[in-house]
Amino acid sequence: MKTNILSFKNFVGKKVEAIGWIAHFRKHSKVGFIDLYDRTSHIQIVLDGDLLKNDYNLEDLVSIKGVIKKRSTQTVNSEQDLGNIELMATKITTLSKCSDLPFNINRSTLTIRESLRLRYRYLDLRTERMRKNIITRAKIAKSLRSFFDKKGFLEIETPALTKGTPEGAREYLVPSRLHPGKGYVLPQSPQQFKQLLMVAGIEKYYQLARCFRDEDSRKDRQPEFTQFDIETSFFNQKEIIALTESAVSSMVRDVFPFLRLPRGKFPVYTYDYVMKKYNSDKPDIRKNQNDPTELAFCWVVDFPMFEIDPTRHKISAVHHPFTRPLINNIKDLDKPEKDLLKIKASAYDLVLNGHEVAGGSLRISDIKLQHKVFEILGLQEKEIKTRFGHMLKAFKFSPPPHGGIALGFDRLVAILCGESSIREVIAFPKTGEARDLLMNAPSKMTSKALKILNLKKTK
Ligand code: AMO
Repeated sequence: MKTNILSFKNFVGKKVEAIGWIAHFRKHSKVGFIDLYDRTSHIQIVLDGDLLKNDYNLEDLVSIKGVIKKRSTQTVNSEQDLGNIELMATKITTLSKCSDLPFNINRSTLTIRESLRLRYRYLDLRTERMRKNIITRAKIAKSLRSFFDKKGFLEIETPALTKGTPEGAREYLVPSRLHPGKGYVLPQSPQQFKQLLMVAGIEKYYQLARCFRDEDSRKDRQPEFTQFDIETSFFNQKEIIALTESAVSSMVRDVFPFLRLPRGKFPVYTYDYVMKKYNSDKPDIRKNQNDPTELAFCWVVDFPMFEIDPTRHKISAVHHPFTRPLINNIKDLDKPEKDLLKIKASAYDLVLNGHEVAGGSLRISDIKLQHKVFEILGLQEKEIKTRFGHMLKAFKFSPPPHGGIALGFDRLVAILCGESSIREVIAFPKTGEARDLLMNAPSKMTSKALKILNLKKTK
């Protein structure tokens, strides 16, 4: 049975079989050393006699049988997990050969051309840094899930083939084969479904959710990204903020014990205050921006409800149209447009070291109020009905007061891992031009595929 390399620390004096890739091989006159690794760790293999007659190629996959021994005090390497043991090889079998590598994977690939790394992502992921990032990502997900499980939240999957949900970006459309001329939209977030789950009486929901937004990618944006998405009924804004803060803090303590969380609660600032003081709605409030262990979280609250969309020159929602205005601002919804821009919403962002890592709000659950907001956003009666009729209908059936938040999971992981781009913490990310270079997507749509979907190419 295959045992992971890391578990060999409990096998001193025992015969084992190690299976892994060769990271290094060096040969002296009578003895040779292989640095063998798998997902879990590295181990030093010592070989002599006939075993030295063969050559061992970097990155070949080998099976090595032998005995685990304690290293002599002089040869202990305290920087490695298994630096105090080694495997004295008796038999080495090559299981799978490695071709010439397109780049060196013995060290961090950060300086290698990114397009090359992405084309050979499976090799990039063999590097220590990338493997660590991907493992850490899984640990963060596990820690957050376990926090919310313990608090009585239920993880529920929501559809990817659905109808658009406005979050301010363009949407990905999937043509339907069974319904010619019609199509699905990939969700920009599970926003509407999580609210409908509240109407369904699932008062505590979370999901590690895939979101799709057809926007230009940047270092902190991907067309396809992940949110740790949360929704609750009966929680007020303070309670949602406290819950999220507690989840994030406990995850950081769990996974990153060496990072420094702020003492006490995260500071809460209003949007007006941070805009005035920092001229930014994501202020970097670190004391020392060169200290990689400092984490400076803060909350920004009371965002404006509406803004003038600079591209469409039309009034639009700052968060999304399901966000509730502050209670004492509701009466102002009847005022003229210039006054509408002064209305504040029950919307809040979590900011970490100058990056927006989460956004959420209390929601509207009143049909009239929701209808009013759609009208202000310039939607005609027919459009309200076709796009959001299902939400208005659901609010007829005793909806609870509700609200929630979504953590930008990739961003949070990237910052905590000390990476400057979210692509460094996503196993198979897309390029800045939204291309998947490994699979070569998007790819040409064949005439046959188009015909099945009742689509025609135009020039
Ligand atoms: P929002 O649009 O603010 O809220 O998104 C929540 C968080 O998701 C992250 N994010 C992204 N990460 C990577 N690539 C992208 N293209 C991208 N876009 C956003 C950000 C952001 O803070 N439904 C609401 C949440 C709610 O109201 O509960 C929503 O999606 O870190």
